[in-house]
Amino acid sequence: MKKFITLLMAMIMAMAVLAGCAAPAEEAPAENTAGETAVEDKVEENKEETSEPVEAGVVNLYTDRHYDTDAELYKQFTEETGIEVNVIKGKGDELIERMKREDADTEADLLITADAGRLFRAKDAGLLQTVESDLVDANVPENLRDKDSTWIGLTMRGRVIVYAKDRVTPDMLSTYEDLTDPKWEGKILVRSSSNIYNQSLLASFIEVSGEEEAKAWAEGLVKNMAREPQGNDRAQATAVVAGEGDLAIMNTYYIGKMLNSDNPEEVNVAQNVGVFFPNQETTGTHVNVSGAGLAKHSKNKRKMQ
Ligand SMILES: [Fe+2]
Repeated sequence: MKKFITLLMAMIMAMAVLAGCAAPAEEAPAENTAGETAVEDKVEENKEETSEPVEAGVVNLYTDRHYDTDAELYKQFTEETGIEVNVIKGKGDELIERMKREDADTEADLLITADAGRLFRAKDAGLLQTVESDLVDANVPENLRDKDSTWIGLTMRGRVIVYAKDRVTPDMLSTYEDLTDPKWEGKILVRSSSNIYNQSLLASFIEVSGEEEAKAWAEGLVKNMAREPQGNDRAQATAVVAGEGDLAIMNTYYIGKMLNSDNPEEVNVAQNVGVFFPNQETTGTHVNVSGAGLAKHSKNKRKMQ
């Protein structure tokens, strides 16, 4: 069964390609993953490895994803394997808490959630186990997998600078570090540091420049904030267009979602901001993943043993 779970992981990667690249914009559902990039697209050529006799059963997914493309993928998985996919949806942190509470009694086979930081927390809490799979190894680059192989990245997202098109031009922008320059005083919008996206961004600074510099950067950023942090990533773009500030730090795919939104106000916001990928000449833009981890207490793993 574990092999089928890794097949499911691989199929999610393949589906992310379809969602991110192949679907024409006008057909894309509002909750499409537009803007996210699939880790790899070599799944098809590796499928033969898993063409084994059908093994009936159920796999349980704890996931914070809510895309139509995922449902289609699970259907395809069931058709190919005879295994039902039982989807349990929730917010990432809540699903992790639930797995902690359920401990060895959990029904979870896979945890799918956004941000390597959150996947790390699940691993750190002892909720995940090592995935040994040539299929996964062949399809997910090493830098997008946990070093102990307890989770793998499925899609990538950049945490970028979004700017007001009518007040800022790309030549005024360069790096995350430049956001602490006094010229941006009172201009920067970002959600709270209690959010995992910002914690992972800061963690990347600590990794690259050390704690002292990371702390100085965070303090410089706070000095330049347009307001007390509030709202989610989309709310930052909305505030930019409303004129509360000129720049926002946010994840790329929200712009894709807003452009495809049924809400004309969201479309208007997305059309009036530009997206800038900082640090192209230095350390690169911070990229994170959404990914999947194999639950430590997966009952299907125990069946295998
Ligand atoms: Fe998000």
